Amino acid sequence: MRDKDSVKLYLCNEMSYNTQNIEIETPGNWPDYELLDSGNGFKLERFGKHILIRPEPKALWSKSLQDKEWYDRAHTIFKPGAGFGKAGKEDSGTWEQLKKMPEQWNIKYTGAGKLHLNLRLGLTAFKHVGVFPEQATNWDWIYSQSLKIASNLHRDTNSQQHPKVLNIFAYTGGATLAARCAGAEVTHVDSVKQVVNWAKENMAQSGLDNIRWIVDDAFKFVKREARRGNLYNGLILDPPAYGHGPNGERWKLDELLFQLLQECSKIVAPQNSFVVLNLYSNGYSALLAKTALEKAFGKDGNYSCGELVLSDSFGKHIPLSVFARLVR
Ligand SMILES: C[S@@+](CC[C@H](N)C(=O)[O-])C[C@H]1O[C@@H](n2cnc3c(N)ncnc32)[C@H](O)[C@@H]1O
Repeated sequence: MRDKDSVKLYLCNEMSYNTQNIEIETPGNWPDYELLDSGNGFKLERFGKHILIRPEPKALWSKSLQDKEWYDRAHTIFKPGAGFGKAGKEDSGTWEQLKKMPEQWNIKYTGAGKLHLNLRLGLTAFKHVGVFPEQATNWDWIYSQSLKIASNLHRDTNSQQHPKVLNIFAYTGGATLAARCAGAEVTHVDSVKQVVNWAKENMAQSGLDNIRWIVDDAFKFVKREARRGNLYNGLILDPPAYGHGPNGERWKLDELLFQLLQECSKIVAPQNSFVVLNLYSNGYSALLAKTALEKAFGKDGNYSCGELVLSDSFGKHIPLSVFARLVR
């Protein structure tokens, strides 16, 4: 369930005047996650029973609660290391325990219908815990699109054909599981074996099965699928600024994103399909994401774009990523 808002962007030239919506999405009621406060470069968040303080460079304003309240409530704080914020060490640092809590624990996410996720969290060597909560609205969208395509395929082919969904740069699998909850046949690609194993755990404890797991370089995988002529009904991608394939293949967002999207356009079905591109890096805007998607996939279809935002309990909003979506 998501809360939505939108910003209208007016584009005008001498010949025409048209508007584009930039959607603002934030997760709706989620008993296992809450952004309690934000400010002074940090977030105070509750994941299930455990409260964490993590760096958040976008929290430019002052905290609403006093420091003492943050420390009284939190179980752990991530202390940025010397290289924090510098290229290659962006998220380095250490967790300092303030109260007893386990290294690993679980949270649940429930959306519409059969969208039930049970995700394992952990305090990783970076500031991440295995889930990006703002992605919940993407999970809702992926689930509903997968269901819609499934029903179109049943109607058009008069068979129980399931949508095929590909998730690349897929991390611990929130989006993969959302598509699987809708009955899609899902392929999950990530270059890091441990992360793929983590996603497998999330599948099992969410009561799901039959996901195709691939440890590979995302770009290489897409090129191979294009050569084989394989087509997907859904494509999900959340590429980082920098990355590596398992054999050292170099990924750099600003150099390779458009080439990757062009290659992706060869493996997405022309009808009964969706694409969602999510971007956290390089300060890219929603409109940039949408323009890149449109240029790679062509004019046909319905495009939308927006920002994924977390709102703290005092009403301060942190835009964390941008997305562009295509439905055709
Ligand atoms: C920003 S995370 C994606 C987060 C995910 N959208 C979510 O919400 O859970 C980026 C992922 O890309 C993976 N990655 C980095 N370079 C890669 C490459 N060349 N090929 C495949 N995966 C890669 C990383 O291992 C990481 O899991």
